[in-house]
Amino acid sequence: MQFFLDTANIEAIKKYAAWGVVDGVTTNPSLISKEGVSLEKRIKEILEVVDGPISTEVIAADYEGMLEEARKYAKWHKNIYVKVPITQDGLRACKTLSAEGVNVNVTLIFSAGQALLAAKAGATVVSPFIGRLDDICQDGMELIAEIAQIFGNYDFKTKILVASIRHPRHVIDAARLGASIATVPPEVFDLLIKHPLTDIGLKKFLEDWEKVKDLK
Ligand code: G3P
Repeated sequence: MQFFLDTANIEAIKKYAAWGVVDGVTTNPSLISKEGVSLEKRIKEILEVVDGPISTEVIAADYEGMLEEARKYAKWHKNIYVKVPITQDGLRACKTLSAEGVNVNVTLIFSAGQALLAAKAGATVVSPFIGRLDDICQDGMELIAEIAQIFGNYDFKTKILVASIRHPRHVIDAARLGASIATVPPEVFDLLIKHPLTDIGLKKFLEDWEKVKDLK
């Protein structure tokens, strides 16, 4: 399973990349806007830190505009994955860009039908937003199971990039379902590594060591 970081914060990206478990980064317009720097500047900084897929999203809503932006981003680096939304124009853009060899991340996926269309249009990855489904009382993980079954049935090469992750359970359940990638927000990485029994165990080891450390 691959882990991507779901943030545009460069300090966080440096911190978690140093853990050695970050395979890529996903951004979106909301994450970039939190940073107060230009999209181009930040994406180029991220490319310096992480040698793996870096998703950057088009802003244009029309086919031609999406192509123009996507081609510009794709020229920045071979690791760029261009994110397009699952709209009629986005689907067309996905087909065209994929045929040109651009890696496309089809985003804002909330149904298996949308994921199936994106896969048929040649998407490299689809991004189902599971947390936002959970937020409206739908089962986000059930969507991952449906997409995994469909992609498996037809041997689609498109990978499932589980997005809108809110907590460690989402990561574990996505892994159990065999999702290829989870894009994990920094705070969820912190929760993933933590366990109170680890803290208690470490404290006890150190206390016990104190009792004998000066013995010759
Ligand atoms: O990368 C997009 C996605 O992960 C959004 O997450 O928390 O805004 O639903 P969230």
